[in-house]
Amino acid sequence: MSDSQSSWWRNAAIYQVYPRSFQDSNGDGEGDLQGVISRLDYLKALGIDAIWLSPFYTSPNNDGGYDVANPRDVDPRFGSMKDAEELINKAHNLGLKIIVDIVPNHFSTEHPWFKEALESQPGLHTRARFHFYDGRGHNGEMPPNNWCSIFGGPAWSRVTELDGSLGQWYLHLFDSTQADLNWENPEVHEDFERTLRFWLDKGVDGFRIDVAHGLAKDEILKDHRNPEGLTRALRLDVSDMPRAERESLLADVPFFDREKVHDIYRKWRQIFDSYSGDRMSVAEAWVHPSSRATRYVRSDELHQIFNFDFLIAEWNADFLRAAIDKTLIEVAAVEAPPTWVLCNHDSPRLVTRLGGGVPGAMKARAMALLTQALPGGIYIYQGEELGLEDAQLPDEVRQDPVFFRTQGIDKGRDGARVPIPWSNNKDNFGFTTGKPWLPLPEDWSDKSVDSQLAKSESTLELYRRSLSIRSSHPALKQKISRNVAGEISWLPTKPGVLAFTREPGFLLIANCNESPISIKVSGELLISSQPGVTEKDGFITLPAHTTCWINTSH
Ligand code: NOJ
Repeated sequence: MSDSQSSWWRNAAIYQVYPRSFQDSNGDGEGDLQGVISRLDYLKALGIDAIWLSPFYTSPNNDGGYDVANPRDVDPRFGSMKDAEELINKAHNLGLKIIVDIVPNHFSTEHPWFKEALESQPGLHTRARFHFYDGRGHNGEMPPNNWCSIFGGPAWSRVTELDGSLGQWYLHLFDSTQADLNWENPEVHEDFERTLRFWLDKGVDGFRIDVAHGLAKDEILKDHRNPEGLTRALRLDVSDMPRAERESLLADVPFFDREKVHDIYRKWRQIFDSYSGDRMSVAEAWVHPSSRATRYVRSDELHQIFNFDFLIAEWNADFLRAAIDKTLIEVAAVEAPPTWVLCNHDSPRLVTRLGGGVPGAMKARAMALLTQALPGGIYIYQGEELGLEDAQLPDEVRQDPVFFRTQGIDKGRDGARVPIPWSNNKDNFGFTTGKPWLPLPEDWSDKSVDSQLAKSESTLELYRRSLSIRSSHPALKQKISRNVAGEISWLPTKPGVLAFTREPGFLLIANCNESPISIKVSGELLISSQPGVTEKDGFITLPAHTTCWINTSH
């Protein structure tokens, strides 16, 4: 059975590679698949179980590859299909699993289907693969409804018909070069099932499903009561919206989390299960309230759903404890394992979000140790293990469509996508011999992999040690049971402190306070997020903003 308690993904450490920014092998300034292959040993030594690769498919790259023009081929910027096969095989030889992205909500307007749609008359089947409609108003000059794009601006663009006249409109919830697919159309289902099988046949171990909650749409010709408000409510980083207003807007989003998406995933699950080797899927689905997310991981649907609670979490004991309890209780109800995500290519880097600089770095390390000790799967975004911060970029180099569609009001996500510094070579830190697609900050030398490997107290060394303990300590390495909520036991603590045990023989203490704390403990210190943890007379003292793991088996 593919979701038995021994399934590898139930408590895997999965590392996100954003290929464009990982390692360039040919000097064109962009990372590629051969670059990833050249760093597999690094990833193996880091102690992860699987690699999730963000899209490397044929794409005009208007949205970092999430605008797919051919989901069954490799973009030449990233290499060739042979490179993809080599990467899958070499990773497998090292015992690493490979998860690839699938982007079912939209195709690039460079996809042959969209080109065919433009070359055909309104009303033909070639347009029915997307959401094409006549506009409103006397001459169809107004879009079919008032929805806004999540990237800013309207969610509809108008096409020019073959005779040169202004014609129909098509829906795009993201950039205008990402046309939403019509999942009422069986052709769309067939095409995606073909893509799933294509990559499963190549040996991939799973899929990360982009905008998994977005495929089915309702009331597509109806105006929304507050489209701008809805777009703002969907952005969790916007904090100035009153909670009640946000909740009322998110309670019913006509293009997200509709009932019919679940039929799609039930079919997909049958495909995954028809392959040997414990294949898995993880949904990117921002749904509200979060309890609805568990519907995606019912036993006949997907395997995991990203839990984004920690993506916006502060380093605050009450907040974190509430988020952990909520998550564990919610997923236990459907017997699915939880996941924990601290950052990704769409969000600010962890250190930056927690305030930046030395305090941000301390909190980020403490947060990492807390997260890695929780039951379930963890996702690590490339560079998180180096404690990277978002890079400050001049507007001229920005590439994110969010920046352009909001006229620069929203700076977008490029700051978190700056390439990885590998060596101390001042010339682009070993990422490329050419001009990197985004500049690496000049002061990143002490952040580079080489610098950090040479320092036992570096963040990289912390991750290497913690991941190694996570995969060997009997309490942490165990597969996650169906009643995951029972896997941690909270201990009573002083305000600002979190402490829990996991059996057998594991204790975590996290001090979220500004000042040190002392706790009576009997056990052996396994690791701490900061130096300076001391043990004396049966008491352990933790500096401010520090997490430690203790082995309590004697
Ligand atoms: C979520 C992806 O993570 C993001 O990078 C992308 O822009 C949107 N989906 C649209 O595909």
